[in-house]
Amino acid sequence: MGNLIVLGAQWGDEGKGKVVDLFSEKFSVVVRYQGGHNAGHTVFIGEKKFVLKLIPSGILRPGIQAVIGNGVVVDPKALLEEVETLERAGIDVKSRLAISNRAHVIFPFHRIVEKMSEGRQDRVPIGTTSRGIGPCYEDKTGRRGVRIADLYERESFCAMYASLAEDKQLLAQTFNIQETIDYEKIRDQYLQFADRLRPMVCDTAQLIHDAMEAGRRVLFEGAQGSMLDVDHGTYPFVTSSSATAGGACTGAGVPPTRINAVIGVSKAYATRVGSGPFPTELEGEAGERIRKAGNEFGAVTGRPRRCGWFDVPLLRYTSMINGFTSLVITKLDVLDQFDEIPVCIEYRGLKTMPATFRGLEDAEPVYQTLPGWKSETRGLSRYDDLPERARDYLRFLSDRTGVEVGCISTGPERDETILIEGSKLAALL
Ligand code: GDP
Ligand code: IMO
Ligand code: MG
Repeated sequence: MGNLIVLGAQWGDEGKGKVVDLFSEKFSVVVRYQGGHNAGHTVFIGEKKFVLKLIPSGILRPGIQAVIGNGVVVDPKALLEEVETLERAGIDVKSRLAISNRAHVIFPFHRIVEKMSEGRQDRVPIGTTSRGIGPCYEDKTGRRGVRIADLYERESFCAMYASLAEDKQLLAQTFNIQETIDYEKIRDQYLQFADRLRPMVCDTAQLIHDAMEAGRRVLFEGAQGSMLDVDHGTYPFVTSSSATAGGACTGAGVPPTRINAVIGVSKAYATRVGSGPFPTELEGEAGERIRKAGNEFGAVTGRPRRCGWFDVPLLRYTSMINGFTSLVITKLDVLDQFDEIPVCIEYRGLKTMPATFRGLEDAEPVYQTLPGWKSETRGLSRYDDLPERARDYLRFLSDRTGVEVGCISTGPERDETILIEGSKLAALL
């Protein structure tokens, strides 16, 4: 019972969209609290495929109140496109989506600033999603950003916008960027976007608080993953927001005392998109085999995801930071045909997670190899139907990480899921 956070325990794309869609049946409100349209949460309902970017996956359940919290950065054009796409698919969005008036706004020039920093000779590119996420958060913490509410105070918006635009022009000149930007056109376009968004904009912290006071349950949907968190991830190869549990409180305006549990979603193996250290990464054919079996290509950028084995020290670390109550292990079916499944059980000689990316690059994974189960688990929905070796594998992950496995996903669809009877997670739902 109570309010839950569901978030990524690895580097993103763990299957949060599927899990949130599944769990949201038991909730009244679903809230996104950080990130932006860098996220791509895929949900299959029967034959239909939905990729949610900014709008919480809970929107797919009729009657749910969906919320975009203050911690999210909003590209109004991308948001309006997403609203229209969902409405065309028969999902009623406009009457059920609330957008925080305190969320920061992404402008087209944020993408250009990002291109500059990613293209610099003296820096390793992060391999971002090129959505302007980082530069928008920079303006937020630099205290010069524009928030949704500002769009409705026309005079002060125009002044703020002019000063922000001047900043970016100076930057573009300094870096000799040739791209021409029609700042006035963008401003006018944003005023039109603002009009279209207006019926959905409100004080979402108040909305969530009122819902909780009325006894309605709230589910917080994380984007990205804990290792992409700006503080606790593999800095600087991270995203620019707080993807760990604390981000739900600041990014939604909800006190920690109102959060009852934190659920970590992890694949039965590991993936990462973009640059940065990845201790258990498999190069060559072995990585390709997982990529193929798991269809590991980015939902937003289509880039092939880097693939590797399950990493216990990483999960122990993200569990420490987030305080996971339970784990959901997804994509178990992807490992069905492997003879052996190595699991990284420690980084040789290291007791804690290195703070620098070089430290993690140097970490030497120590593997324990478990036998594969070599039979089909795809679509199974009862724990007892899992092959014994698959159950041993799950028990091993739970024992080594110190967190119960409360739910297992055996395919992308809603019913391709095993909720473990008697688990803490089952009791929470
Ligand atoms: P998210 O960003 O965490 O929501 O995850 P993504 O949607 O980016 O990536 C997860 C992908 O795996 C999606 O294409 C899902 O449809 C798919 N998926 C989720 N759970 C399972 C599972 O248990 N088995 C398989 N084979 N695919 C899954
Ligand atoms: P979901 O919510 C996987 C990665 C990018 C890049 C880094 C920074 O679908 O799990 P950014 O554009 O955020 O500045 O890029 O973070 N990244 C993700 N990787 N899943 C995501 O979201 C991601 N969002 C960002 O690839 O390495
Ligand atoms: Mg994704």
